[in-house]
Amino acid sequence: MLTDLGTVNEILEKHGYQRASLIGILQDIQSRMNYLPRKALLHLSRCLDIPLAEIYEVATFYKAFHLEPKGRHTIQVCLGTACHVRGSRRILSYLESLLEVKAGGTTKDLSFSLETVNCLGACALGPLLVIDRKYYGKMSTNRMEEILKKYR
Ligand code: FES
Repeated sequence: MLTDLGTVNEILEKHGYQRASLIGILQDIQSRMNYLPRKALLHLSRCLDIPLAEIYEVATFYKAFHLEPKGRHTIQVCLGTACHVRGSRRILSYLESLLEVKAGGTTKDLSFSLETVNCLGACALGPLLVIDRKYYGKMSTNRMEEILKKYR
């Protein structure tokens, strides 16, 4: 099971069970478990005496926190203006169909999470795709399957 409360207890001990350390505790849980499982958040709520709703408020406020399991690899498709005019929407549609997942989702086998971003500051490389922080510029649908094979 992904929710190992022993791990959560270790993290709580590291932070001295301090309510003020909530964000750091959430970061550590996510770093160890790859997301924030509900069971872990319930445990935090009890141990830190913080209402569960308050914990969810923090967890949903920061985009870096995930309440659902993430894939082993994260694919980001840039939809910024420069990439958009060079066909990034077509790349995204192709990926959604190939991986059978919509942007914002994770494949059933937890291999890939598919995200969209707005400009990664490398517009000359558009359309731009990033997998686990590796940039793939001038992307085309023809190259997609070959690139994804490296991550399967
Ligand atoms: S618009 Fe895609 S990198 Fe700038």
